[in-house]
Amino acid sequence: MRTPIMAGNWKMNCDNPQAEQLASAIAEQAGDIEGCEVIICPPFTALTTVADALSGTDIALGAQNMFWEEKGAYTGEISGPMLRSCGCEYVIIGHSERRGRFGSPDEDFTAELQKVFGDTDASVNRKIKAALSYDLTPIVCGGELLAERQTGQTDTVVKGQVEAAIEGLSADQVSRIVFAYEPVWAIGTGEVCEADEANRVIRLIRQTLAEAVSEEVAAQVRILYGGSVKPANVRGLMEQSEIDGGLVGGAALQADSFCELIEVAAEIKRN
Ligand code: 13P
Repeated sequence: MRTPIMAGNWKMNCDNPQAEQLASAIAEQAGDIEGCEVIICPPFTALTTVADALSGTDIALGAQNMFWEEKGAYTGEISGPMLRSCGCEYVIIGHSERRGRFGSPDEDFTAELQKVFGDTDASVNRKIKAALSYDLTPIVCGGELLAERQTGQTDTVVKGQVEAAIEGLSADQVSRIVFAYEPVWAIGTGEVCEADEANRVIRLIRQTLAEAVSEEVAAQVRILYGGSVKPANVRGLMEQSEIDGGLVGGAALQADSFCELIEVAAEIKRN
């Protein structure tokens, strides 16, 4: 039995007063829901504020990115020990936005962002290794662009991202990772991936882990779906056997909608 996870990725939203208000509201409404792990990933600047608001609850704190070095002359970067000292237990790694892979139709802006952010399969792998060494659970993201889906490359892209992410990791290390399938074209667009198709790709991720590591590890690893998860579509997604929860952007920015997602995941996966 894999315990479901509902993780809120706040992206670049919420200053400290807003973060305090939102985290407190979620803690109040969802603090005692059983059967679903809840993770909140605010921006770096709000980590300690959110940690305070969540203290005494089972809701866990996560960051949205990290650098692999422990400390040093890396202006603007944040290390694993720094995240731990803020109370983080999780860290999102390799989100498509950090890889500079956006669904935006503005190609010039996307090309610019690719240079500014620019995570690669190699940097994602290094960050995962570093996160695990600091006892942070990586939430490792992958997913195809619309153009890749339209040209039949979805499976190759996703399989390749997963294989590259776990390169050089032991079975024990892989078993501690949470994966998230986030088709880029579904992120922030309101266009959710069909539940059975998301389930199919997540099964492919599990098969990839089974081939690269072991059946046992593949069966125990949690794999989330992300991309326009909302109260209106969460039920169909959570009913899928391979989907172990959600990584949620927009709908995690309102306490009511995020808590509804948590309740549905807990209810469906309990049965
Ligand atoms: P949305 O839920 O806003 O589509 O964002 C998904 C996402 O990118 C979560 O990491």
